[in-house]
Amino acid sequence: MDKFVVHGGNPLRGSLRISGSKNSALPILAATLLTPEPCIIHNVPNLSDIRYMLQILQHLGAEVTFENGTVRVCAANIHSETSYDLVRKMRASICVLGPLLARLGRATISLPGGCVIGDRPIDLHLKGLETLGAQIEVEEGNVIASAPRLIGSEVFLGGKFGSTVLGTDNIMMAATRAKGVTIIESAACEPEVRDLAEFLIKMGAKIQGQGTRRIEIEGVDFLRGVEHHVIPDRIEAGTFMVGALISGGDLRLTHLAPEHLGAVTNALKQAGAEIKIEGNEMQIRATGPLKSIEVITETYPGFPTDMQAQFCALMSVVPGISVIAEKVFPNRFMHLSELKRMGAKIDLEGSTAIIHGVDHLGGAPVMASDLRASAALVLAGLVAKGVTTVNRVYHIDRGYEKIDEKLRSVGAVIERQKE
Ligand code: EPU
Repeated sequence: MDKFVVHGGNPLRGSLRISGSKNSALPILAATLLTPEPCIIHNVPNLSDIRYMLQILQHLGAEVTFENGTVRVCAANIHSETSYDLVRKMRASICVLGPLLARLGRATISLPGGCVIGDRPIDLHLKGLETLGAQIEVEEGNVIASAPRLIGSEVFLGGKFGSTVLGTDNIMMAATRAKGVTIIESAACEPEVRDLAEFLIKMGAKIQGQGTRRIEIEGVDFLRGVEHHVIPDRIEAGTFMVGALISGGDLRLTHLAPEHLGAVTNALKQAGAEIKIEGNEMQIRATGPLKSIEVITETYPGFPTDMQAQFCALMSVVPGISVIAEKVFPNRFMHLSELKRMGAKIDLEGSTAIIHGVDHLGGAPVMASDLRASAALVLAGLVAKGVTTVNRVYHIDRGYEKIDEKLRSVGAVIERQKE
């Protein structure tokens, strides 16, 4: 297992290119199962989660290559049973369920297991597919779904914690080949859902309302192979925005989609950041001391839960009291105890972190618990006095392409060591 050794106190300065979005690429790769024709997907980040998804596609019988950010998939001859060993490695593997059911009329997929960011049920995915006429049984840890032909219907996808991103993806993909019209109410509006819809539309799907709470899909008989560019990763961009500020640096981020970062940009401006946007580039720095803020995570276009941990790290060293409430995954706070080991003063009340900004953090050995928590610890290491060792960086490799190399290229002192 690799670890990162970070020497704090070096401002990030220079230019960073933002990679393609992991959370967009994963369902788009699953959607290639909907057609027997070849698909070409560009701007795919080289991450372990992406490689797991490619292994799942290969296991299902698809021919797959991945070179220089471009994936070629041909799912001409596929079967419907996934392997537990592959599926258990990544929760997003659930998004092959909809495409398999639509294309083959059946799918067997292991139920995803527990997750450190909290309980992550798939009840809404299953309820949605049942509404389209699928028969679903859960046996020996597997979901077994069958439907000779899915039938379009009205599907309500709102849950206790708002809409569901992968649930919306799954139902949208299943509905592309259903008989008749499906209407998804309380759909997720995330840019990644929209990107998937654009991909499906190129394939010949009839979809309207993507990016809104109500998506309408008219089923078609055949989807064709297409070529697509994945959108930029808004969470990687947001993480580097926080990196610029926490280190007292000045970064130019290129190849990003600033329009997907409204809530993050707004919160950082409130905290006192200077942010200039020109086309698909952003310059970000702090011109004076930052101010404490209040943030609530919500579904898009609200503030993303995937940026909550990084904001906790930043606000740990901003004077005053910041309040960060988590509404999407109420237990997603594993990073707080690690930040506290570095000297942060944070109280957790329910699902709200109350952060008393301290003068400085101190380097310490810390343990990454999930992807975004790991990113938060690396960010904290950039500003901490002394050396921070972040263990278990395989979490960060799931979702940040070459983060150590990218950070080094803008002045961070960070080294990957084999444990
Ligand atoms: N939920 C249910 N029932 C369901 C599905 C979800 O109750 O059937 C609940 C969840 O427990 C959670 C809320 O609804 O409280 C939202 O979960 P959602 O389904 O939207 O999450 P997801 O689709 O499984 C994606 C991202 C996550 C991101 C969330 C929220 C991918 C591959 N994953 O997960 O990304 O946090 O949306 O925006 O797109 C990450 O990249 O680090 C990551 C965890």
